[in-house]
Amino acid sequence: MALSLVIFGASGDLTSRKLVPALYELSQKGRLPEGTRIIGFSRTEFSDEAWRASLAESTAKFLGNRFDRGAWEKFAPALHYHAGDINQAEDFEQLHKRLTQLDGGNGATRVYYLATAPQFYEEIVQRLGASGLADEVHGPRRIVIEKPFGSDAKTARRLNEAVHQVFKEQQVYRIDHYLGKETVQNILVLRFANSIFEPVWNRNYVDHVQITVAEEVTVGRRGAFYDQTGILRDMFQNHLLQLLMTTAMEAPVRFEAEAVRDEKVKVLRAIRPLSAAAVATDTLRGQYQGYRGEPGVAADSQTATFAAVKLAVDNWRWQGVPFYLRSGKAMSCRTTQIVIQFRRPPTMVFGAGASSSVCDANKLVIQIQPAEGIQLLFETKVPDQGMRLRLSELEFSFQREFSGVMPEAYERLLLDVFQGDASLFARADEVELAWGIVDPILAAWQETRLPKLEIYEPNLWGPTSAGAWIETQCRQWFDVCPVIA
Ligand code: BG6
Repeated sequence: MALSLVIFGASGDLTSRKLVPALYELSQKGRLPEGTRIIGFSRTEFSDEAWRASLAESTAKFLGNRFDRGAWEKFAPALHYHAGDINQAEDFEQLHKRLTQLDGGNGATRVYYLATAPQFYEEIVQRLGASGLADEVHGPRRIVIEKPFGSDAKTARRLNEAVHQVFKEQQVYRIDHYLGKETVQNILVLRFANSIFEPVWNRNYVDHVQITVAEEVTVGRRGAFYDQTGILRDMFQNHLLQLLMTTAMEAPVRFEAEAVRDEKVKVLRAIRPLSAAAVATDTLRGQYQGYRGEPGVAADSQTATFAAVKLAVDNWRWQGVPFYLRSGKAMSCRTTQIVIQFRRPPTMVFGAGASSSVCDANKLVIQIQPAEGIQLLFETKVPDQGMRLRLSELEFSFQREFSGVMPEAYERLLLDVFQGDASLFARADEVELAWGIVDPILAAWQETRLPKLEIYEPNLWGPTSAGAWIETQCRQWFDVCPVIA
Protein backbone atom coordinates (compact mmCIF):
# COMPACT_ATOMS: atom_id res chain seq x y z
CA MET A 1 0.00 0.00 0.00
CA ALA A 2 1.46 3.37 -0.96
CA LEU A 3 1.07 5.91 1.78
CA SER A 4 1.91 9.59 1.78
CA LEU A 5 1.96 11.53 5.02
CA VAL A 6 2.07 15.28 4.52
CA ILE A 7 3.11 17.24 7.59
CA PHE A 8 2.05 20.89 7.62
CA GLY A 9 4.33 22.73 10.03
CA ALA A 10 7.32 20.64 9.03
CA SER A 11 9.91 23.01 10.43
CA GLY A 12 8.18 23.21 13.81
CA ASP A 13 8.90 21.70 17.17
CA LEU A 14 6.28 18.98 17.12
CA THR A 15 7.66 17.56 13.88
CA SER A 16 11.23 17.32 15.11
CA ARG A 17 10.50 16.35 18.73
CA LYS A 18 7.64 13.91 18.33
CA LEU A 19 6.46 13.05 14.84
CA VAL A 20 9.69 12.21 13.05
CA PRO A 21 11.20 10.30 16.02
CA ALA A 22 7.96 8.27 16.21
CA LEU A 23 8.03 7.58 12.46
CA TYR A 24 11.68 6.57 12.67
CA GLU A 25 10.90 4.18 15.56
CA LEU A 26 8.03 2.67 13.59
CA SER A 27 10.33 2.18 10.63
CA GLN A 28 12.97 0.57 12.80
CA LYS A 29 10.39 -1.84 14.22
CA GLY A 30 9.29 -2.68 10.67
CA ARG A 31 5.81 -1.26 11.27
CA LEU A 32 5.80 1.63 8.84
CA PRO A 33 3.65 0.54 5.88
CA GLU A 34 5.71 -0.47 2.88
CA GLY A 35 6.22 2.46 0.52
CA THR A 36 5.52 5.19 3.07
CA ARG A 37 6.59 8.69 2.10
CA ILE A 38 6.71 11.59 4.51
CA ILE A 39 6.43 14.99 2.94
CA GLY A 40 7.24 18.04 5.03
CA PHE A 41 5.43 21.23 4.03
CA SER A 42 6.34 24.63 5.39
CA ARG A 43 7.60 28.01 4.29
CA THR A 44 11.28 27.62 5.12
CA GLU A 45 13.32 26.65 2.07
CA PHE A 46 15.00 23.26 2.45
CA SER A 47 16.21 20.67 0.02
CA ASP A 48 15.22 17.06 0.80
CA GLU A 49 18.82 16.49 1.84
CA ALA A 50 18.98 19.46 4.17
CA TRP A 51 15.67 18.52 5.82
CA ARG A 52 16.86 14.96 6.34
CA ALA A 53 20.14 16.16 7.84
CA SER A 54 18.44 18.50 10.27
CA LEU A 55 15.98 15.76 11.31
CA ALA A 56 18.79 13.26 11.78
CA GLU A 57 20.34 15.64 14.25
CA SER A 58 17.13 16.37 16.17
CA THR A 59 16.04 12.73 16.21
CA ALA A 60 19.44 11.64 17.53
CA LYS A 61 19.13 14.27 20.23
CA PHE A 62 15.62 13.27 21.33
CA LEU A 63 16.12 9.52 21.16
CA GLY A 64 19.58 9.38 22.73
CA ASN A 65 20.93 5.83 22.69
CA ARG A 66 17.80 4.56 20.91
CA PHE A 67 19.06 6.29 17.78
CA ASP A 68 20.93 4.08 15.34
CA ARG A 69 22.70 5.72 12.43
CA GLY A 70 22.36 2.69 10.17
CA ALA A 71 18.60 2.41 10.79
CA TRP A 72 18.25 6.13 10.16
CA GLU A 73 19.99 5.83 6.80
CA LYS A 74 17.43 3.20 5.78
CA PHE A 75 14.55 5.40 6.95
CA ALA A 76 15.76 8.80 5.68
CA PRO A 77 14.97 8.27 1.94
CA ALA A 78 11.26 8.25 2.94
CA LEU A 79 11.58 11.91 3.93
CA HIS A 80 10.85 14.59 1.34
CA TYR A 81 10.42 18.31 1.66
CA HIS A 82 8.11 20.68 -0.15
CA ALA A 83 8.48 24.41 0.53
CA GLY A 84 5.16 26.19 0.36
CA ASP A 85 2.97 28.89 1.81
CA ILE A 86 -0.32 27.97 3.42
CA ASN A 87 -1.87 31.15 2.03
CA GLN A 88 -1.03 30.38 -1.60
CA ALA A 89 -3.46 28.27 -3.63
CA GLU A 90 -0.67 27.77 -6.17
CA ASP A 91 1.51 26.06 -3.56
CA PHE A 92 -1.20 23.49 -2.91
CA GLU A 93 -1.43 22.80 -6.63
CA GLN A 94 2.31 22.22 -6.64
CA LEU A 95 1.99 19.95 -3.63
CA HIS A 96 -0.69 17.99 -5.45
CA LYS A 97 1.65 17.46 -8.40
CA ARG A 98 4.53 16.46 -6.16
CA LEU A 99 2.35 13.93 -4.33
CA THR A 100 1.23 12.39 -7.60
CA GLN A 101 4.87 12.12 -8.67
CA LEU A 102 5.78 10.45 -5.39
CA ASP A 103 2.90 8.05 -4.82
CA GLY A 104 1.49 7.70 -8.32
CA GLY A 105 -1.92 8.92 -7.13
CA ASN A 106 -3.96 5.82 -7.83
CA GLY A 107 -4.80 3.75 -4.78
CA ALA A 108 -2.44 5.62 -2.46
CA THR A 109 -3.58 6.60 1.00
CA ARG A 110 -2.86 10.21 1.86
CA VAL A 111 -2.75 11.56 5.37
CA TYR A 112 -2.55 15.30 6.07
CA TYR A 113 -1.15 16.15 9.47
CA LEU A 114 -1.82 19.66 10.80
CA ALA A 115 1.11 20.45 13.08
CA THR A 116 1.08 24.20 12.47
CA ALA A 117 -0.13 26.92 14.83
CA PRO A 118 -3.89 26.38 15.24
CA GLN A 119 -4.88 29.66 13.57
CA PHE A 120 -3.91 28.09 10.22
CA TYR A 121 -6.08 24.97 10.50
CA GLU A 122 -9.15 26.36 8.73
CA GLU A 123 -7.11 27.82 5.92
CA ILE A 124 -5.25 24.55 5.30
CA VAL A 125 -8.47 22.55 5.33
CA GLN A 126 -10.09 24.88 2.80
CA ARG A 127 -7.08 24.77 0.52
CA LEU A 128 -6.87 20.99 0.70
CA GLY A 129 -10.50 20.95 -0.39
CA ALA A 130 -10.09 23.52 -3.15
CA SER A 131 -7.04 21.82 -4.66
CA GLY A 132 -8.76 18.42 -4.80
CA LEU A 133 -6.37 16.94 -2.27
CA ALA A 134 -9.21 15.76 -0.02
CA ASP A 135 -10.95 13.98 -2.86
CA GLU A 136 -11.24 10.24 -2.18
CA VAL A 137 -11.74 9.09 -5.77
CA HIS A 138 -8.18 7.72 -6.03
CA GLY A 139 -7.75 6.42 -2.50
CA PRO A 140 -8.37 7.17 1.17
CA ARG A 141 -7.70 10.72 2.40
CA ARG A 142 -7.40 11.43 6.11
CA ILE A 143 -6.68 14.50 8.16
CA VAL A 144 -5.01 14.60 11.58
CA ILE A 145 -5.60 17.70 13.68
CA GLU A 146 -3.42 18.52 16.65
CA LYS A 147 -4.67 20.12 19.82
CA PRO A 148 -5.84 22.72 20.68
CA PHE A 149 -9.00 22.07 18.69
CA GLY A 150 -10.55 25.54 19.08
CA SER A 151 -10.20 27.69 22.16
CA ASP A 152 -13.79 27.33 23.39
CA ALA A 153 -16.99 25.55 22.34
CA LYS A 154 -17.83 28.23 19.78
CA THR A 155 -14.51 28.16 17.95
CA ALA A 156 -14.39 24.35 18.13
CA ARG A 157 -17.84 24.22 16.51
CA ARG A 158 -16.72 26.60 13.81
CA LEU A 159 -13.62 24.57 13.12
CA ASN A 160 -15.68 21.37 13.01
CA GLU A 161 -17.99 23.00 10.48
CA ALA A 162 -15.06 24.12 8.34
CA VAL A 163 -13.53 20.63 8.48
CA HIS A 164 -16.84 18.98 7.63
CA GLN A 165 -17.17 21.16 4.53
CA VAL A 166 -14.21 19.26 3.13
CA PHE A 167 -13.83 15.97 5.05
CA LYS A 168 -16.38 13.47 6.32
CA GLU A 169 -16.14 12.81 10.05
CA GLN A 170 -14.72 9.31 9.38
CA GLN A 171 -11.73 10.96 7.68
CA VAL A 172 -10.93 13.16 10.68
CA TYR A 173 -8.47 12.25 13.46
CA ARG A 174 -8.35 14.77 16.33
CA ILE A 175 -5.27 13.95 18.35
CA ASP A 176 -5.00 13.82 22.10
CA HIS A 177 -1.64 12.19 22.68
CA TYR A 178 -2.72 10.96 26.12
CA LEU A 179 -4.88 8.37 24.39
CA GLY A 180 -1.79 6.97 22.71
CA LYS A 181 -0.14 6.22 26.05
CA GLU A 182 -0.02 2.50 26.77
CA THR A 183 -1.07 3.04 30.38
CA VAL A 184 -4.17 4.98 29.37
CA GLN A 185 -5.26 2.20 27.04
CA ASN A 186 -4.49 -0.20 29.86
CA ILE A 187 -7.23 1.41 31.96
CA LEU A 188 -9.71 -0.08 29.51
CA VAL A 189 -7.99 -3.44 29.71
CA LEU A 190 -7.89 -3.35 33.51
CA ARG A 191 -11.58 -2.55 33.63
CA PHE A 192 -13.00 -4.57 30.78
CA ALA A 193 -10.69 -7.57 30.41
CA ASN A 194 -10.99 -8.48 34.11
CA SER A 195 -14.11 -9.13 36.09
CA ILE A 196 -12.78 -8.43 39.58
CA PHE A 197 -12.70 -4.63 39.40
CA GLU A 198 -15.95 -3.89 37.64
CA PRO A 199 -18.31 -4.92 40.48
CA VAL A 200 -16.73 -2.37 42.83
CA TRP A 201 -16.22 0.34 40.19
CA ASN A 202 -19.23 2.43 41.16
CA ARG A 203 -20.95 4.60 43.74
CA ASN A 204 -21.56 1.69 46.11
CA TYR A 205 -17.85 1.18 46.75
CA VAL A 206 -15.97 4.22 45.49
CA ASP A 207 -15.68 7.25 47.74
CA HIS A 208 -14.07 9.52 45.17
CA VAL A 209 -11.68 9.57 42.21
CA GLN A 210 -8.57 11.77 41.92
CA ILE A 211 -6.90 12.49 38.63
CA THR A 212 -3.59 14.30 38.87
CA VAL A 213 -1.36 15.46 36.05
CA ALA A 214 1.55 17.16 37.76
CA GLU A 215 4.46 18.58 35.82
CA GLU A 216 7.76 19.66 37.22
CA VAL A 217 8.52 21.88 34.24
CA THR A 218 7.55 25.53 34.02
CA VAL A 219 6.21 27.14 30.85
CA GLY A 220 9.77 27.81 29.69
CA ARG A 221 9.91 29.13 26.15
CA ARG A 222 6.17 28.72 25.60
CA GLY A 223 5.22 31.77 27.71
CA ALA A 224 3.46 33.74 24.96
CA PHE A 225 1.31 30.78 23.93
CA TYR A 226 0.68 29.68 27.49
CA ASP A 227 -0.38 33.07 28.75
CA GLN A 228 -3.25 33.05 26.23
CA THR A 229 -4.09 29.45 27.01
CA GLY A 230 -3.70 28.60 30.70
CA ILE A 231 -4.00 25.27 32.42
CA LEU A 232 -7.70 24.60 31.75
CA ARG A 233 -7.40 24.92 27.99
CA ASP A 234 -3.96 23.34 27.83
CA MET A 235 -4.58 20.27 30.00
CA PHE A 236 -8.17 19.91 31.25
CA GLN A 237 -10.26 20.26 28.10
CA ASN A 238 -8.30 17.41 26.57
CA HIS A 239 -5.97 15.23 28.66
CA LEU A 240 -7.68 15.32 32.06
CA LEU A 241 -11.16 14.91 30.64
CA GLN A 242 -9.92 12.02 28.50
CA LEU A 243 -8.59 10.32 31.62
CA LEU A 244 -11.89 10.96 33.37
CA MET A 245 -13.89 9.53 30.46
CA THR A 246 -11.70 6.44 30.29
CA THR A 247 -12.08 5.86 34.03
CA ALA A 248 -15.82 6.51 34.17
CA MET A 249 -17.21 5.16 30.88
CA GLU A 250 -19.34 2.06 30.48
CA ALA A 251 -17.97 -0.91 28.54
CA PRO A 252 -18.35 -0.36 24.80
CA VAL A 253 -20.08 -3.14 22.90
CA ARG A 254 -16.92 -3.61 20.86
CA PHE A 255 -13.50 -2.00 20.82
CA GLU A 256 -14.10 0.09 17.73
CA ALA A 257 -14.20 3.80 17.11
CA GLU A 258 -17.91 4.55 17.19
CA ALA A 259 -18.73 2.27 20.12
CA VAL A 260 -15.85 3.56 22.26
CA ARG A 261 -16.57 7.18 21.50
CA ASP A 262 -20.30 6.80 22.10
CA GLU A 263 -19.57 5.66 25.65
CA LYS A 264 -17.07 8.43 26.28
CA VAL A 265 -19.46 11.07 25.04
CA LYS A 266 -22.13 9.77 27.43
CA VAL A 267 -19.79 10.54 30.34
CA LEU A 268 -19.30 14.10 29.13
CA ARG A 269 -23.05 14.52 28.82
CA ALA A 270 -23.46 13.33 32.42
CA ILE A 271 -21.00 15.85 33.88
CA ARG A 272 -22.92 18.49 35.79
CA PRO A 273 -22.11 21.95 34.38
CA LEU A 274 -20.68 24.28 37.02
CA SER A 275 -22.60 27.47 37.85
CA ALA A 276 -20.59 30.56 38.78
CA ALA A 277 -21.39 29.86 42.45
CA ALA A 278 -20.15 26.28 42.09
CA VAL A 279 -16.98 27.49 40.34
CA ALA A 280 -16.22 29.65 43.40
CA THR A 281 -16.36 26.65 45.76
CA ASP A 282 -15.56 23.65 43.56
CA THR A 283 -12.51 24.93 41.73
CA LEU A 284 -9.10 26.30 42.70
CA ARG A 285 -6.67 28.22 40.59
CA GLY A 286 -3.05 29.10 41.14
CA GLN A 287 -0.05 30.57 39.44
CA TYR A 288 3.50 29.60 40.26
CA GLN A 289 5.77 32.21 41.71
CA GLY A 290 7.98 33.61 38.98
CA TYR A 291 5.52 32.90 36.16
CA ARG A 292 5.03 36.62 35.45
CA GLY A 293 8.74 36.95 34.81
CA GLU A 294 8.78 34.25 32.11
CA PRO A 295 9.48 35.50 28.56
CA GLY A 296 6.24 36.29 26.73
CA VAL A 297 4.11 36.47 29.89
CA ALA A 298 2.26 39.68 30.87
CA ALA A 299 3.63 41.34 34.01
CA ASP A 300 0.16 41.32 35.60
CA SER A 301 -0.96 38.01 34.13
CA GLN A 302 -3.98 36.33 35.73
CA THR A 303 -3.42 33.09 33.83
CA ALA A 304 -3.66 29.96 35.97
CA THR A 305 -0.81 27.48 35.81
CA PHE A 306 -2.53 25.21 38.34
CA ALA A 307 -6.16 24.25 38.72
CA ALA A 308 -8.18 21.79 40.73
CA VAL A 309 -11.77 21.07 39.78
CA LYS A 310 -14.39 18.93 41.46
CA LEU A 311 -16.83 17.43 38.99
CA ALA A 312 -19.97 15.39 39.47
CA VAL A 313 -20.92 12.70 36.97
CA ASP A 314 -24.68 12.52 37.18
CA ASN A 315 -25.42 9.01 36.07
CA TRP A 316 -26.48 5.71 37.63
CA ARG A 317 -22.93 4.50 38.24
CA TRP A 318 -21.33 7.64 39.64
CA GLN A 319 -24.06 9.64 41.36
CA GLY A 320 -22.56 11.18 44.51
CA VAL A 321 -18.93 10.25 43.71
CA PRO A 322 -16.81 13.37 43.23
CA PHE A 323 -14.09 13.37 40.60
CA TYR A 324 -11.23 15.64 41.64
CA LEU A 325 -9.08 16.75 38.73
CA ARG A 326 -5.90 18.73 39.22
CA SER A 327 -2.95 19.73 37.13
CA GLY A 328 -0.17 22.21 37.40
CA LYS A 329 3.20 23.32 36.16
CA ALA A 330 6.18 23.78 38.51
CA MET A 331 4.94 21.02 40.80
CA SER A 332 6.85 18.66 43.04
CA CYS A 333 7.54 16.06 40.37
CA ARG A 334 6.26 14.79 37.05
CA THR A 335 3.50 12.33 37.70
CA THR A 336 0.19 11.43 36.14
CA GLN A 337 -1.94 9.20 38.28
CA ILE A 338 -5.52 8.18 38.86
CA VAL A 339 -6.55 7.24 42.36
CA ILE A 340 -9.71 5.26 42.96
CA GLN A 341 -10.38 5.74 46.65
CA PHE A 342 -12.74 3.10 47.96
CA ARG A 343 -14.99 3.69 50.94
CA ARG A 344 -13.75 2.93 54.43
CA PRO A 345 -15.03 -0.20 56.10
CA PRO A 346 -18.34 0.58 57.82
CA THR A 347 -16.86 0.03 61.31
CA MET A 348 -13.31 -0.67 62.49
CA VAL A 349 -13.74 -3.91 64.42
CA PHE A 350 -10.09 -3.91 65.48
CA GLY A 351 -10.56 -0.70 67.44
CA ALA A 352 -9.98 2.89 66.46
CA GLY A 353 -6.32 2.76 67.54
CA ALA A 354 -5.45 -0.37 65.55
CA SER A 355 -4.38 1.58 62.51
CA SER A 356 -3.11 5.00 61.64
CA SER A 357 -3.40 4.33 57.94
CA VAL A 358 -7.02 3.44 57.44
CA CYS A 359 -7.52 6.59 55.35
CA ASP A 360 -4.61 5.65 53.09
CA ALA A 361 -5.79 2.12 52.47
CA ASN A 362 -8.50 0.91 50.11
CA LYS A 363 -6.93 2.69 47.20
CA LEU A 364 -6.18 1.65 43.67
CA VAL A 365 -3.55 3.86 42.11
CA ILE A 366 -3.13 3.78 38.36
CA GLN A 367 0.26 5.26 37.52
CA ILE A 368 0.08 6.62 34.00
CA GLN A 369 3.63 8.04 33.93
CA PRO A 370 6.54 8.06 34.49
CA ALA A 371 6.46 5.02 36.81
CA GLU A 372 3.94 3.13 34.69
CA GLY A 373 2.04 0.61 36.76
CA ILE A 374 -0.74 -0.06 39.23
CA GLN A 375 -0.73 -0.22 43.02
CA LEU A 376 -3.33 -1.54 45.38
CA LEU A 377 -3.04 -0.15 48.90
CA PHE A 378 -4.63 -2.09 51.73
CA GLU A 379 -4.35 -2.80 55.44
CA THR A 380 -2.47 -5.85 56.78
CA LYS A 381 -1.84 -7.25 60.21
CA VAL A 382 1.59 -6.59 61.67
CA PRO A 383 2.81 -10.01 62.84
CA ASP A 384 3.41 -10.59 66.51
CA GLN A 385 1.96 -7.26 67.59
CA GLY A 386 -1.57 -8.06 68.62
CA MET A 387 -4.08 -6.49 66.30
CA ARG A 388 -1.91 -3.68 65.00
CA LEU A 389 -2.45 -2.88 61.34
CA ARG A 390 -0.22 -1.35 58.72
CA LEU A 391 -0.56 -0.12 55.17
CA SER A 392 0.73 -2.57 52.56
CA GLU A 393 0.85 -2.57 48.84
CA LEU A 394 0.57 -4.87 45.86
CA GLU A 395 2.36 -3.46 42.90
CA PHE A 396 2.44 -4.10 39.20
CA SER A 397 5.10 -2.36 37.15
CA PHE A 398 5.23 -2.33 33.37
CA GLN A 399 8.97 -1.90 33.52
CA ARG A 400 9.45 -5.03 35.61
CA GLU A 401 6.90 -7.11 33.76
CA PHE A 402 7.73 -6.24 30.17
CA SER A 403 11.21 -5.60 28.94
CA GLY A 404 11.90 -2.84 26.47
CA VAL A 405 11.06 0.82 26.33
CA MET A 406 7.46 2.03 26.47
CA PRO A 407 6.67 3.32 22.99
CA GLU A 408 5.90 6.98 22.50
CA ALA A 409 2.20 7.78 22.27
CA TYR A 410 2.67 9.14 18.74
CA GLU A 411 3.86 5.79 17.41
CA ARG A 412 0.58 4.10 18.22
CA LEU A 413 -1.52 7.06 17.10
CA LEU A 414 0.23 7.46 13.75
CA LEU A 415 -0.10 3.77 13.06
CA ASP A 416 -3.81 3.91 13.87
CA VAL A 417 -4.28 6.76 11.41
CA PHE A 418 -2.44 4.80 8.72
CA GLN A 419 -4.72 1.83 9.41
CA GLY A 420 -7.86 3.95 9.53
CA ASP A 421 -8.72 3.24 13.17
CA ALA A 422 -10.12 6.28 14.98
CA SER A 423 -10.86 4.61 18.35
CA LEU A 424 -8.16 6.62 20.10
CA PHE A 425 -9.11 9.97 18.57
CA ALA A 426 -11.68 12.54 19.64
CA ARG A 427 -14.91 12.86 17.70
CA ALA A 428 -16.47 16.20 16.74
CA ASP A 429 -19.18 16.09 19.44
CA GLU A 430 -16.62 15.00 22.05
CA VAL A 431 -14.38 18.07 21.67
CA GLU A 432 -17.36 20.42 21.68
CA LEU A 433 -18.83 18.83 24.81
CA ALA A 434 -15.44 18.95 26.54
CA TRP A 435 -15.24 22.67 25.87
CA GLY A 436 -18.74 22.96 27.27
CA ILE A 437 -17.37 21.78 30.62
CA VAL A 438 -14.34 24.07 30.64
CA ASP A 439 -15.93 27.26 29.24
CA PRO A 440 -18.20 28.07 32.24
CA ILE A 441 -15.23 27.74 34.60
CA LEU A 442 -13.11 30.12 32.54
CA ALA A 443 -16.02 32.56 32.24
CA ALA A 444 -16.70 32.53 35.99
CA TRP A 445 -13.01 32.97 36.83
CA GLN A 446 -12.98 36.03 34.67
CA GLU A 447 -16.29 37.53 35.74
CA THR A 448 -16.39 36.86 39.48
CA ARG A 449 -12.62 36.56 40.05
CA LEU A 450 -13.51 33.70 42.38
CA PRO A 451 -11.84 31.65 43.60
CA LYS A 452 -8.88 33.99 43.99
CA LEU A 453 -5.80 33.27 41.98
CA GLU A 454 -3.28 31.97 44.49
CA ILE A 455 0.45 32.35 43.92
CA TYR A 456 2.21 29.10 44.84
CA GLU A 457 5.75 28.17 45.51
CA PRO A 458 7.33 26.05 42.77
CA ASN A 459 8.36 22.44 43.44
CA LEU A 460 5.52 21.71 45.85
CA TRP A 461 1.98 20.47 45.17
CA GLY A 462 0.44 23.75 44.01
CA PRO A 463 -1.37 26.31 46.17
CA THR A 464 -1.30 25.66 49.91
CA SER A 465 -5.08 26.02 50.04
CA ALA A 466 -5.42 22.90 47.87
CA GLY A 467 -4.82 20.63 50.86
CA ALA A 468 -7.35 22.40 53.08
CA TRP A 469 -9.86 22.56 50.21
CA ILE A 470 -10.01 18.81 49.77
CA GLU A 471 -9.74 18.12 53.51
CA THR A 472 -12.90 20.09 54.25
CA GLN A 473 -14.53 17.47 52.09
CA CYS A 474 -12.98 14.74 54.31
CA ARG A 475 -10.51 13.70 51.66
CA GLN A 476 -6.79 13.97 51.03
CA TRP A 477 -4.69 14.42 47.96
CA PHE A 478 -2.42 11.54 47.08
CA ASP A 479 0.72 13.69 47.05
CA VAL A 480 3.20 10.97 46.25
CA CYS A 481 6.02 11.17 43.76
CA PRO A 482 6.21 7.68 42.37
CA VAL A 483 9.37 5.68 42.76
CA ILE A 484 10.49 4.17 39.49
CA ALA A 485 11.40 0.55 40.15
C1 BG6 B 1 0.69 19.12 26.11
C2 BG6 B 1 0.62 20.47 26.79
O1 BG6 B 1 -0.51 18.84 25.45
O2 BG6 B 1 0.93 18.11 27.07
C3 BG6 B 1 1.89 20.73 27.56
O3 BG6 B 1 0.43 21.47 25.82
C4 BG6 B 1 2.21 19.60 28.50
O4 BG6 B 1 1.81 21.96 28.29
C5 BG6 B 1 2.15 18.27 27.76
O5 BG6 B 1 3.50 19.81 29.04
C6 BG6 B 1 2.26 17.11 28.72
O6 BG6 B 1 2.39 15.91 28.01
P1 BG6 B 1 3.12 14.65 28.66
O7 BG6 B 1 2.93 13.57 27.67
O8 BG6 B 1 4.54 15.04 28.88
O9 BG6 B 1 2.42 14.40 29.96
